[in-house]
Amino acid sequence: MVSYKELGLSNTKEMFKKAVAGGYAIPAYNFNNMEQMQAIIQACVETKSPVILQVSSGARKYANATLLRYMAQGAVAYAKELGCEIPIALHLDHGDSFELCKDCIDSGFSSVMIDGSHHSFEENIALTKKVVEYAHQHDVTVEGELGVLAGIEDEVVAETSTYTRPEEVEEFVAKTGVDSLAISIGTSHGANKFTPAQCTRNADGILVPPPLRFDILEEIEKRLPGFPIVLHGSSSVPVDKVQTINKFGGSLKDAVGIPEEQLRKASKSAVCKINIDSDGRLAATAAVRQVLAENPGEFDPRKYLGPARDALKELYKAKNINVLGSAGKA
Ligand code: G3H
Ligand code: 13P
Ligand code: ZN
Repeated sequence: MVSYKELGLSNTKEMFKKAVAGGYAIPAYNFNNMEQMQAIIQACVETKSPVILQVSSGARKYANATLLRYMAQGAVAYAKELGCEIPIALHLDHGDSFELCKDCIDSGFSSVMIDGSHHSFEENIALTKKVVEYAHQHDVTVEGELGVLAGIEDEVVAETSTYTRPEEVEEFVAKTGVDSLAISIGTSHGANKFTPAQCTRNADGILVPPPLRFDILEEIEKRLPGFPIVLHGSSSVPVDKVQTINKFGGSLKDAVGIPEEQLRKASKSAVCKINIDSDGRLAATAAVRQVLAENPGEFDPRKYLGPARDALKELYKAKNINVLGSAGKA
C-alpha cells in the first residue's frame, strides 16, 4: 500500500473548492508516456496552474502501473526542479470496477473516477458508494458520472435521452457521497464528436457543432450549489492540427470538437475539471508527421518526439491561459 501523500501528490478537494469559488477549471490531461508527462508539467509550471494527471485503464496497461506511479512521483520532483510547486493530482480516468479503483488507491492515486454511467441509476449508486467508502478511508477523492457521453462511452452519438437528468443529481450525490460529478451536456469523446449531419458549416466550410446544453448545466447548478462538476470529452479538435496531419499523409475526415468559447463559458460556472486527451493526440501526431515527412532520413526518435513534446506544451499552455483560466492559480 502506497499513499499518494508519500508521493507528494494532492487530492482534488482543495483544487476544486478554489476553482469553483474562483470561476475557473482545473485541466485534466491524459498521459501515457514520458514526453506527454514532461509537456504537461512544463506547461503547468510555466503557467503556474494546478493540474490533474489523468490515467485511463488503457494507459495503465500500455505504460505499466508501477512505472506510471513513479512517473507521477517524478512529476512532483520535476515541477519543483523547474521552480514551482504546483498541486498535482494523479487520477484514474473512467474506472469501471471497484477492484480497479481500489488497486489505484492502494498504489498511490489521489483521485479516482468510478464510471457507473452505463448501469441503472440504482446500480450506479451502489457501485459509486462502495468506491467512495473505500476511497474516503484513504483521503482519496472520487468522481462519479450521471448521463452517457458519445464516443468511447457509447457507440452512438449522444441523444437527448443520454443527457444528465437534473432531477437525479441531488439523490445521486447524497446517496453516494461523491466529491465531484461528471455530467453529459453534449460533449463527446474522440476527434469526431458529431456527424456532419448534426453540424452546420461556416463560411470556410468548417464544421460547426451543436451548442452545449447550458440549460441543463444551469439546472444542475441550481440543485447542487457550489458542487464540483466535471466535463469529459472536451477537446476542441483544432483545425490547424487536423490540416497538418492530413497535409503530411494522414487521413482524418470530418473531425470536429467543442469550440473553445463554450469551454471558456463552462469554466466560469461550477465546471471545475475539464478532460482533454484527443487534442494532445492530434498535436503530437501533427508534429511527428510533419518532421518525418520533411526529414525522410531521420530515425532518431528524439528528433520527432521532441517536437511532439514542444507542440503538446504549447497546446496545454494555451488551454490553461485562454480556455480554462487556471493559469496563475497554483
Ligand atoms: O476518455 C477516454 C480517454 O480519452 C482515454 O482514452 O482509453 O484510449 O486511453 P484511452
Ligand atoms: P477528449 O476525447 O475530448 O479529449 O476527452 C477526453 C476525456 O474525456 C478523458 O476522460
Ligand atoms: Zn472521459
